[in-house]
Amino acid sequence: PGPYSTILVERRGRTALLTLNRPKALNALSLDVMRETVEATEALDRDPDVGCIVITGSGEKAFAAGADIKEMQPRSYMDMYLSDWFTAWDRLGQLRTPTIAAVRGYALGGGCELAMLCDLVIASDTAVFGQPEIRLGVIPGIGGSQRLTRAVGKAKAMDLCLTGRNMDAEEAERAGLVSRIVPDADLLEEALAVAGTVSGRSAPVAMMAKEAVNRAFETTLAEGVRFERRLFHAVFATEDQKEGMRAFSEKRPAAFTHR
Ligand code: CAA
Repeated sequence: PGPYSTILVERRGRTALLTLNRPKALNALSLDVMRETVEATEALDRDPDVGCIVITGSGEKAFAAGADIKEMQPRSYMDMYLSDWFTAWDRLGQLRTPTIAAVRGYALGGGCELAMLCDLVIASDTAVFGQPEIRLGVIPGIGGSQRLTRAVGKAKAMDLCLTGRNMDAEEAERAGLVSRIVPDADLLEEALAVAGTVSGRSAPVAMMAKEAVNRAFETTLAEGVRFERRLFHAVFATEDQKEGMRAFSEKRPAAFTHR
């Protein structure tokens, strides 16, 4: 895959680091960024040597300040409808490999939505989240009205989507959008450490854990618990269950084979 023009992709052991690389435009999510991010992450998802994907922004100021406003401004309804604008982003939510958004600075509009498409959000204490689309005369278009509401509840989602105000890292963590806050200088190191922990687990079992949690957003409690139970039974078909439980009995760290 690659080389790409709007993103950078590196490997750190079993972790892949994807950096949105349009710092002069505060990493605005153009169609090229969408295409490349989806293509790169789908390739990483197919790679058995990748156990976790970290997505971050380049520069000090932004994770991503939204979809590219200049690219959208002249479009008509027919342009948006026929091209099914933004639809490829949905594929990021379908990845099986765990994903972590490492957020420094602005995560606004599509930037906030991209963070919410990831499984964990690790925020620097400088992070700022919001869905300011209404200020531009539009509404969220990469799932913000749905994922923000599920993450933080109606009260705050309505507040953010109707006023367009921002929320700082503390408020975002209290509200349930952010998994952890870390000092700005430590952001990438911490995100990569968490990714290292995740990618050191059994890959198929991590995929099942992710799938089970995500099911909670799609179904009833009884069906979700049933789904979890089926996966729980299925993990007993893995080598890694045998190794994980044997290692516990032998009082040593588990050495997962990832299958
Ligand atoms: N799209 C395109 N370009 C953007 C951008 C965006 N979303 N956000 C910032 N930029 C560009 C600016 O135009 C500017 O470019 P120039 O130097 O060529 O003028 C450059 O990035 C730096 O930005 P600012 O000078 O504005 O930086 P600032 O520090 O003064 O302000 C900011 C930072 C408050 C984040 C401001 O840039 C801003 O408000 N950005 C737009 C935020 C926004 O409305 N996001 C939602 C977009 S719509 C959307 O995302 C729809 C959806 O649901 C997917």
